[in-house]
Amino acid sequence: MTESEKHLQAMLTPSREQLVRLVERFQGEIQRGLAGEVSSIAMHPSFVSRPSGGETGRFVALDLGGSNVRVTIVEPDGRGSAAVTRQESFRLTATSGDARDLFDPVADFIGDVIEADGSHKLGFIFSFPVQHESVRSGRLEKWTKEFAFTGVEGMDVVRLLEEAITSKSNESPALKTLSVSALANDTVSTLAWGAYLDPRCDMGLIVATGMNMAAAVSRDLIAKPLPPTIGNPDEMLFNMECGNFDGVELIHTPLDTRLVSESGTRGQLLEKMISGRYLGELVRLAVVHLESRGDAFSGWTASGSAFGLEFGITAEHISDIVHDESPELVGVGMLLRRLGIAACITDERRLLKNACQLIANRSARLVAMGIAATALFMDPELGSEHVVAVDGSLFRGCPGYQTEVRTGLRELLGESRSDRVLVTYLRDASGVGAAIIAAVAAG
Ligand code: BGC
Repeated sequence: MTESEKHLQAMLTPSREQLVRLVERFQGEIQRGLAGEVSSIAMHPSFVSRPSGGETGRFVALDLGGSNVRVTIVEPDGRGSAAVTRQESFRLTATSGDARDLFDPVADFIGDVIEADGSHKLGFIFSFPVQHESVRSGRLEKWTKEFAFTGVEGMDVVRLLEEAITSKSNESPALKTLSVSALANDTVSTLAWGAYLDPRCDMGLIVATGMNMAAAVSRDLIAKPLPPTIGNPDEMLFNMECGNFDGVELIHTPLDTRLVSESGTRGQLLEKMISGRYLGELVRLAVVHLESRGDAFSGWTASGSAFGLEFGITAEHISDIVHDESPELVGVGMLLRRLGIAACITDERRLLKNACQLIANRSARLVAMGIAATALFMDPELGSEHVVAVDGSLFRGCPGYQTEVRTGLRELLGESRSDRVLVTYLRDASGVGAAIIAAVAAG
């Protein structure tokens, strides 16, 4: 291992002891969140329980949680399966502007996807921190993932969507057939789909542009009175908003500190070490760091290179770099030319791949920390089996990521206890789960 590799490894690899301390703090924050005390893990109630598995119907799911907005038509059959009869997506051209710049194009798009016959019940997945007032209303607490539309924070996002739908319904009569049945976070809908398929599922996890978890918490574990739940009255699905967990400051490196100061999104310290929106930037900052020490990457951050631009490197670049197994890293060289680095030596390509791997592995071990802490909070002895339903491009697409999460769980829980926590990727879970939540809400 070269000196630079050793330096990066020491900086970016938290020890097992540090992770164990984070597990403890994370549990304390869940407890405080549930008790309604100040906590960096908010634990927002969703007003629904897990589905029974018998839910049926036909629903429109709107997934709004990043630049890629999706509309899916889903028909759960009540027997462990759901048909996706249509799925369309479009990319938002901006992540800032005012509320209408966000909701008007979304309403237009839904109008293009649904037919003007019958009636349509909508499950609205809005993947940002929302304080629910009922299963079909809730106020946005703050934007995350560098979104910055004005006039939305503090507002009921269902009302904003409905206003846009009404204002567009003359141009697009199909919109007149639409009514919002439920609002949910993507982690909650992922959990719901997981539980529809397997009743052992009690956690939902998203590792994509953002990171967050949901948990099905039994009422015995909650100190304060909660509003009634639709479905099973003995439990509530909570959107944890654990991407905001601030205990990770314990293991912040200079790269994390710099990233936090650059970001336009408040808090979200755990998310900034885990999710796809930020990992590329951490890799870029590692390059900047080594270049400024005179260790490697000389000239890489000059103007015209993606390494000289904030957020110029993305999680997709990381996946491509880690994917390249060729001895001379020819693919990495080709990618680097596209990113504005005309010439580089093999050792630099290796060091870059090494930085990508260390940053992705740290992300995966922190995901394992969150899962371990949540599972231990709900079942301290891990006497039962728990299934974690996961959706998200980073979890699915980053080479070696899932293995590293499992290794992290074994490291924290031990061999036999970690076998009782099953982490499973479910494609499109967040969208399909929206239909399940809408069905639970429809009673
Ligand atoms: C949001 C969560 C969301 C997560 C994954 C985070 O930035 O705060 O509400 O679940 O991203 O999409």
